[in-house]
This record gives sequence, C-alpha cells and structure tokens, in this order.
Amino acid sequence: MELKEAIRKRKSVRRFKDKAVTEEDVEAMVEAARLAPSGGNKQNWLFGVVRDEDRIARIAEAAGGQTWISSAPLVFALCTELEKDLKGLKEGDFELEVDKERYGPDLIEYLKKFPEQRKVSMLFENCNPLLPGEHIFLTAVSRGLGACWIGHLNIEKVSEILSLPEGVVCLFLMPVGYPAEEPEQRDRKDKEELVFYEEYR
Ligand SMILES: Cc1cc2nc3c(=O)[nH]c(=O)nc-3n(C[C@H](O)[C@H](O)[C@H](O)COP(=O)(O)O)c2cc1C
Repeated sequence: MELKEAIRKRKSVRRFKDKAVTEEDVEAMVEAARLAPSGGNKQNWLFGVVRDEDRIARIAEAAGGQTWISSAPLVFALCTELEKDLKGLKEGDFELEVDKERYGPDLIEYLKKFPEQRKVSMLFENCNPLLPGEHIFLTAVSRGLGACWIGHLNIEKVSEILSLPEGVVCLFLMPVGYPAEEPEQRDRKDKEELVFYEEYR
C-alpha cells in the first residue's frame, strides 16, 4: 500500500475481530517503530507487545474503563524511561540551555523546584513514543489491520500491570487487530484554517 493510501485509510478502530495478529505483522510494526526519529537520536522508548487476554482486560480497566480495548488480540504498550532530571542539570549544560531557550527560564526554574522530578520528567518525555506509535499505526493499516491511539490511561496503574522497572512508564497504548467495524471519516479542519504562509495574519 502506498503511504498516501495508508494515511488516507487510517482511522481509529475500536472493535476487532477474534483473529490473531501474525508474528510477521508484529515484526513489521516493531521494525517500523524502531526506525522512527528521535531528538538527539536518543531512542528513549520501549515497546511492549501484550497478547494475554487477562492482562489486556486489566489494561483496559486502567485505561479509564475503555472495555472495548479487550476486543483487541494485541496491545502495544508505548513506554519511555523517565530520564529527564532538571535538578541534575548544571548551568551551562547544553540540555538546560536548550530547555531555557525553548520553554523560557522562568518555567524551567519553577519546574526545578517541584519535589518529584519524575513527574516533571513525564511531561517532557510524553512526546517520546508518539512518532514510533504512528509508524506502528500506519504499518498496521498498510497490512490490513486497524488500531487506535489510547492516551486516556492511568500511567502508574498500566506500568504496574506491565511490571515495568522503576523509572520506566507506559505513556500510550495501541490496540491492534483486524477491524470489525468501518469507522466513519472524522471531520478535519479545512486547509485554509490550518496553514499560514511566511507569517500569520
Ligand atoms: C494522542 C492520542 C490519544 C488518544 N486517546 C484516545 C483514547 O484514549 N481513547 C479513544 O477512544 N481514542 C483516543 N484517540 C483517538 C482520537 O479520538 C482519534 O484519533 C480522533 O478522534 C480522530 O479520529 P480518527 O483517528 O478516526 O481519524 C487518541 C488519539 C491520539 C492521537
């Protein structure tokens, strides 16, 4: 399938057939995720492949009770290590300088004072699994599978269900399987609303 077609066909599927995803498909999706770009090529991510029915049911419960997730034969757990530590950075460190420039020094100073730096890290690291996740999604579509992003989850609970080591969290889930529904195309804003050229007027 051409990329253009996969992008056009991609819709959130929330009901799946009772049919397993092949090992070959899983391999293809993992490989697509592996090749995703990351800032500084840090590749700060980890992908869980969950097939156990009971575990998927517990994950669904911890995902705001979105029980439909249980109809998926497979769920990807998109994880990251919480390695950002503003307090551990020294004046002059490149990373700190970039953060100050990017977010403004006042916000960085404020966040530095927050006692639980892990929680602050979660905000900075939140974007890590998004690009590999979308690679997984588009690869799934290109192979006749469907998927859905899940951002509504209790990060702590899901990470516990997955027995993730200290400091590693699951930030997003992605149920994958053969679609048992044909979702409608959701509205999209018109191009005129989205794009500006040179500067906004
Ligand atoms: C980061 C992110 C988190 C999302 N979280 C959820 C979720 O928890 N539950 C859900 O049913 N859909 C979730 N969605 C799916 C969106 O509702 C969906 O992508 C959007 O309505 C557009 O529909 P489409 O994907 O069919 O084009 C999420 C999408 C993204 C990108």
